[in-house]
Amino acid sequence: MRLTFTVNDRDETVDDVWEGESLLYVLRERVGLPGSKNACEQGECGSCTVYLDGLPVCSCLVAAGQAEGRRVRTVEGLADGDRLDPVQEAFAECGAVQCGFCTPGLLVQAHDLIDRVPRPSDAEIREALAGNLCRCTGYEKILDAVRLAAARKAAR
Ligand code: FES
Ligand code: FES
Repeated sequence: MRLTFTVNDRDETVDDVWEGESLLYVLRERVGLPGSKNACEQGECGSCTVYLDGLPVCSCLVAAGQAEGRRVRTVEGLADGDRLDPVQEAFAECGAVQCGFCTPGLLVQAHDLIDRVPRPSDAEIREALAGNLCRCTGYEKILDAVRLAAARKAAR
């Protein structure tokens, strides 16, 4: 089937999509956006998180056909050209990235949280990121990064 959708504000048309293909596969293998990671392919780890019509979803669980006519925003689309989003800057500055496999999903989820709750409490950060697993950092630096990003966005 043919899939037509918008990815990071660009119109994309992908041909010969198999009905069983996931949105994650299409993004990584057909659209050339490998930022979203495939770690579990079962909706357990959150590393494939993207926005679908403005809401974070696990793209490994979304059939590509469900994205027809819809808007997808990936971790690559968080930056404004060469200018990183504050949440991306904060993750780098706080040492919240080690192997980086979890990072794209955490960035999208944290970006969404700060948009909805400009100054989130620690409990709200933990709840928002509860579906995103990280095997490397112990989470403290991730919390630091979200706090820093929220403070910087609030000060803008
Ligand atoms: S790869 Fe999608 S939730 Fe783990
Ligand atoms: S930095 Fe390695 S899984 Fe999170």
